[in-house]
Amino acid sequence: MDFGLKGKRALVTGSSSGIGEGIAHQLAEAGATVVVHGRNPQRTSAVARAINERGGRAISVTGDLTEDGVAAHIREQVDAELGGIDVLVNNAGGRYAGFDHMDWFGIPAQDWLGSYKLNVVAAALMIEQFVPGMKARGWGRAIQISSGIAIQQPPVFPDYQAAKTAVVSLSGSLAKALSGSGVTSNTISAGVIYTPGSDGELDKAARAFGMDDWQKDERRFALEFFHHAVPRVGRPGDIAGAVLYMASQQADFITGAHLVVDGGGASAL
Ligand SMILES: NC(=O)c1ccc[n+]([C@@H]2O[C@H](COP(=O)([O-])OP(=O)(O)OC[C@H]3O[C@@H](n4cnc5c(N)ncnc54)[C@H](OP(=O)(O)O)[C@@H]3O)[C@@H](O)[C@H]2O)c1
Repeated sequence: MDFGLKGKRALVTGSSSGIGEGIAHQLAEAGATVVVHGRNPQRTSAVARAINERGGRAISVTGDLTEDGVAAHIREQVDAELGGIDVLVNNAGGRYAGFDHMDWFGIPAQDWLGSYKLNVVAAALMIEQFVPGMKARGWGRAIQISSGIAIQQPPVFPDYQAAKTAVVSLSGSLAKALSGSGVTSNTISAGVIYTPGSDGELDKAARAFGMDDWQKDERRFALEFFHHAVPRVGRPGDIAGAVLYMASQQADFITGAHLVVDGGGASAL
C-alpha cells in the first residue's frame, strides 16, 4: 500500500527505544526519511543504523528535550541535513519520577513541573521549531503520543496523567490554529504497551496480581488485570501502525482527533 510518504521527512522524538523506535521503523518502511532522536547517542545511532541496513533512510540526532535550546539545536541540525521536516511525531516522554507516585498526595512541586516539562513543554518546543516550516510548504503532520490514562484518570501518577491530558489539549488547539494550512495535528494515546520504559511497571503489576511472569499467561493478565477487550498487552507496532495512518495521505481529512489504541482497555474500565 502506498501511504504517500515516499520523499517525506519524519522526525520521531524518543525513537532510540520502545514505541518511538517502532514508529521510526514503520515510517521508514513506508518510504519516509526518518530522523531518529534520543538522549543516548549509542542507542539512537543504533536504531538509525538498523533502518539503513534494512534499506531505509535514517539519520540520528541527540539531545535532552527538557534542556534549554535543545529543540532549536535539533532543528538547525535537521535543516542542514534534510532541509526541513514534513512529519513530526512527539513521542518522547514518560513518568518524570519513574513509578514513585502511586499515592496522589505528597508529590513535590518539582515532580509536577518535571512531568509537565518532559511531556508537554518538550512537545510544544518541537512544534514551535518544525511546524512553521510545514505551514510554509503547505503540507505537514504533527502527531502527539499521549496515554490512555489521559481519559481514564486513575488515582495514581496524577502528575503524569495531568501532563498527558494537556498533550491531548495542546494537540487539539494546534489543529485549530493550523486551519486551512494543509498541516494536521492529532493525538494517539497508547494503552499498556510492552517497552523498555514499561517493563518494570508490568513486572510490578504482575506481582501485585500474583503472577511471577506475566508473559507465561499474557491472555489472563490482559483480560483480568488490565480489563483489555483484546486479550494481550500492546506492542510498539500497535502504536506505530496508527501513527503511520495519521501520517499518511489517506488521513488528509483528519485533524484535531484523538485516537486511543489500548486493546479496549479504556472502554472496559
Ligand atoms: N509503554 C507504555 O505502556 C506507554 C503507555 C502510554 C503512553 N506511553 C508514552 O509513549 C511514549 C514512549 O514510551 P516508551 O514506553 O516507548 O518509553 P521508553 O522505552 O522509555 O522510551 C522513551 C524514549 O524517550 C526518550 N526520552 C526520554 N526522556 C527524554 C528527554 N528528556 N529528552 C529527550 N528524549 C527523551 C528516550 O531516550 P533515551 O532512551 O535515548 O534516553 C527514549 O527514546 C512516552 O511519551 C510515554 O509516556 C507509553
